[in-house]
Amino acid sequence: MTSAPKKKFAALISGRGSNMASLLAAAEKPDFHAEPTLVLSNKADAPGLSVAERAGVPTKVISHRDFASRAEYDATLDETLKEAGVDIICLAGFMRLFTEEFVTSWTGKLINIHPSLLPSFPGLNVQQKTLDAGVRVSGCTVHFVDAGTDTGPIIGQAVVPIDPNDDDASLSARILGQEHKLYPRCLDLIAQEKIWLEAGRVRYATDFRIDQSLSLP
Ligand code: GRF
Repeated sequence: MTSAPKKKFAALISGRGSNMASLLAAAEKPDFHAEPTLVLSNKADAPGLSVAERAGVPTKVISHRDFASRAEYDATLDETLKEAGVDIICLAGFMRLFTEEFVTSWTGKLINIHPSLLPSFPGLNVQQKTLDAGVRVSGCTVHFVDAGTDTGPIIGQAVVPIDPNDDDASLSARILGQEHKLYPRCLDLIAQEKIWLEAGRVRYATDFRIDQSLSLP
């Protein structure tokens, strides 16, 4: 029996790229169902770019500063990703909002990771808002992207307990540890078509099983 060809993914970054690095590392395993085809940044000085280069993955910078409008930027992004044969776009700290047109054209193929248990604490400065709210658990969420900010259908979540002594940095680090496990796992499941988006809802294959390890601190 021949196995299905691997899905091609692009990681979009604006900075450090630690989630991107976790996806590239996971994709090195032979049984992973997706392969990186491009790491794209809107910032030429994103530290993650050199991480991708060292891993031998093609990189590209498309600076938003070179475009007069969001629509023109997104159209170039769209063209670049399609030319590269990308099946799945993984947003990994890509600090840009998209036009509705771009989101619609990639519906079900555009995913993001966010450092909270959505729908709680969307947006920016997430960990500080989490601490200020006094909640006892937080975590991270991988979701399909829709036209809103951090509002798309949820694919997977990992729970992280909050220590009474946590500050922004310690909580961020603990959540990040889970992000690096959750994101590759979700990408692998989407690439295998065990998870997909249908009529605005996330569907799971009947043989899908929750991976309990993702909820461990
Ligand atoms: C992560 O916390 C991710 O959840 C959020 O942006 C941060 C990116 O970090 N979307 P890194 O660049 O992947 O290290």
